[in-house]
This record gives sequence, structure tokens and C-alpha cells, in this order.
Amino acid sequence: MNKFFPEFDHPPNRVGSCSLKWDRYDDPDVIPLWVADMDFKSPQSVLETVRHSSEHGNFGYGNPPSGLFEIIVSRTSELYNWTIDPNWIVWLPGMVCALNVTCRALTGEASKAIIQTPIYPPFLTASANFDLPLAKVPLTLDNGRFTIDFRSLSELKTQPGDLFMLCHPHNPVGTLFNKEELNLLIQWVVERDLYLCSDEIHCDLILDDELQHIPPASLDHRIAEKTITLMAPSKTFNIAGFGCSFAVISNPGLRAKFKKAMRGIVPDPPALGFLLAEAAYRDGEAWRFSLIKYLQGNREMAMSALNQMEGLVPYSPEATYLLWIDATNLPVDRPHKFFEENGVGLSDGADFDAPGFLRLNLGCSRKLLAEALARMSKACKNLSLP
Ligand SMILES: Cc1ncc(COP(=O)(O)O)c(C=O)c1O
Repeated sequence: MNKFFPEFDHPPNRVGSCSLKWDRYDDPDVIPLWVADMDFKSPQSVLETVRHSSEHGNFGYGNPPSGLFEIIVSRTSELYNWTIDPNWIVWLPGMVCALNVTCRALTGEASKAIIQTPIYPPFLTASANFDLPLAKVPLTLDNGRFTIDFRSLSELKTQPGDLFMLCHPHNPVGTLFNKEELNLLIQWVVERDLYLCSDEIHCDLILDDELQHIPPASLDHRIAEKTITLMAPSKTFNIAGFGCSFAVISNPGLRAKFKKAMRGIVPDPPALGFLLAEAAYRDGEAWRFSLIKYLQGNREMAMSALNQMEGLVPYSPEATYLLWIDATNLPVDRPHKFFEENGVGLSDGADFDAPGFLRLNLGCSRKLLAEALARMSKACKNLSLP
């Protein structure tokens, strides 16, 4: 299964391709390592499906193919030991949309949403879109790994019906919560009679071979009843532009609330989105394994280089292709601006509720990553010169 795909070393040139990532900087020399979008071509099965669809030539409304339900049910069972019923699946054109629909669905019932910071920016804004107050509980560092701060959670005031929004694996810190952490979290959520929204968009990108992704809803029927799990092939197979995501909601009442919150507002994914999701999940596994190997190599190279840069503390991601860096000791006001001026475009930690931090996207060719790291290293060295 671990076939090497040499094309990871030779991604397409995305300049002028309407790419959000590559169009960001006016200066064409800035290497864009910000938004969570990889530079690689999608797997062959996906490319063939696009070709086939363009030859077919009709792009009308879509309907999810039965094969897509089947492959989702079989892979959640095989990969995540989670038995789901196809009727639990609700299609959505994106995950940010799903986070917002979740908040909308629980408005009136929840007195607040609870998130762990730093976090992917839409978690910080979704609840406010529905006037739902937000409680932020910072993650805590344990031996260089970000984890859940159970002490703060135990001190937090909650009301039955409140919403805990989990990012698992966690963007931006890269933590994959383990069974022990999840069981403690489940206990807390169940005891307090909360709802759980678990965004698992990065669950197919586990970089540490010995780790296993566990959906909380798979662990305990009491939490399953209260959980909206969000998944998508978009990040893993680089098909985010075709908008096909899904929620898994086993509780029929909760599912009805979620669907009601979508009604008249949220469109279905496009036909091609469904087809690409099926092609990716069904025939993209060898590619995915090879991608993970490649990302592991990129992670290793980045960690080793960043660890040598004075003023930076990098955190090795267990999952995702995103690497979180503490730059608060760098003697500059705005680290992300500083690196941008030195030719590397990183995500600004302030957007994740962590000013002074940075997020680096490893989803690019090793050669480009090496060039970006060399620029960062030179910039840091120049800072420490007398
Ligand atoms: C945790 C998480 N959720 C959701 C999204 C966005 O998903 P979508 O593009 O489907 O809205 C991202 C994108 O980076 C993400 O990292």
C-alpha cells in the first residue's frame, strides 16, 4: 500500500489558477504557506472522474450516489471502528457552513457555545452569528503537547443544552485527542447534559503511525445521542473547491433540528462534489498513505529546521498538515508580517485567538518548504545579529 507517488515532489504551478492560497500576496516572491489547502494534485481516481464528467458535459443538480453512502459506511467502520447507518448522513457544501448550522440549530436551547482556543477562526465566530454567547477554554500544554484543560472545564458554568464545539484532530495545534482524553470529555459532556459538535475534517490525516483517530460518537451511545459529527474528504484529497461534506447525526430529533436549520438556506453539494468524494474515498487510499508518508517527511524537515531558529518554538502535529509555532519570543511586533516581509506567508496566530503565534502549512513540495524554511532561518539570524 505504501507506493511512492513522485508527483508530490512536482505539484502543479498554481499561480494564475484562481487559487485563494497563491493569489493572496501582491509580491509574487512570497511563498504561501497559510490557508489549509495543499498544492498537490488530487488522486488519479479524482482526476479521471473530473475528466469523465467534462466529457459527459452536463452539470445539472446533483443527487448523492448510493455508492458514496456505502463507501462512507464501510470506511467509518474499517478505519474508525464506528458503525453508522446511511440515514444518519446529512450532506452539506462545506464544514464552516456545518459549524454555523449547528449553532443555528441549537439557538434557543443552548445558552452558550464552548470552544478550546487557539482554534480555527470560524469556531470563534459561528456562535456570534446567532447571538449565542461564547465561552473560550484555552488548551493546556502538557510536555510540549496541547491537550484539554479538564480543570478549567470542571470550573466552567454550563447549562443543560449548551454546545461544546470540538476540533478533532485540532486545528491549529495538531493534537489528536486520545481515548483517555475523549472518555473524560464525554463524561463531562454527558454529566452536564451538553451537545457535542465534533469537527473531524482532518481525521484521515494522522501523521503519527501509532495513533488512531477515534470519533467520540463511536465510544458511547449516551454521547452519540448528543453529537453532531462533521466529516469530509475535502482536506485529505484536496477537493475543498468542490464542496462536499457531511454530518453524521444518529439521534433523529437532533438530526431533524439540524436539517430544519439548513432549510431554504444551505444548498446541496454539486453533482461533481458527490462523484469526487466517492472516487477519493473508494480509490484514493494508496495515494492517501503515500501522502501521509510525504507529509511526515515534510514535518520532520520543518521541525528540525524550526527547532534551530532562535525565538521560535514549533509543536510537532500528530495529525493535519498544519504546524503551530510559538513566536512570542521573537523580538518583532507582528511575527507573521515579519516573515511575510522576508518572503514566507504564514497564518497569523491572532486569527486563531493566539497573537504572536504562527501556523505553517506543510502541504507543499519539499523543495518549496526547504526554501521557505531557509528564508525563515535567515530572517531569524539577521534579527539576532548585533
Ligand atoms: C477544522 C476545520 N473545519 C472546517 C474547515 C473548513 O471546511 P470547509 O472549507 O469545508 O468549509 C477547515 C479548513 O481549514 C478546518 O481546518
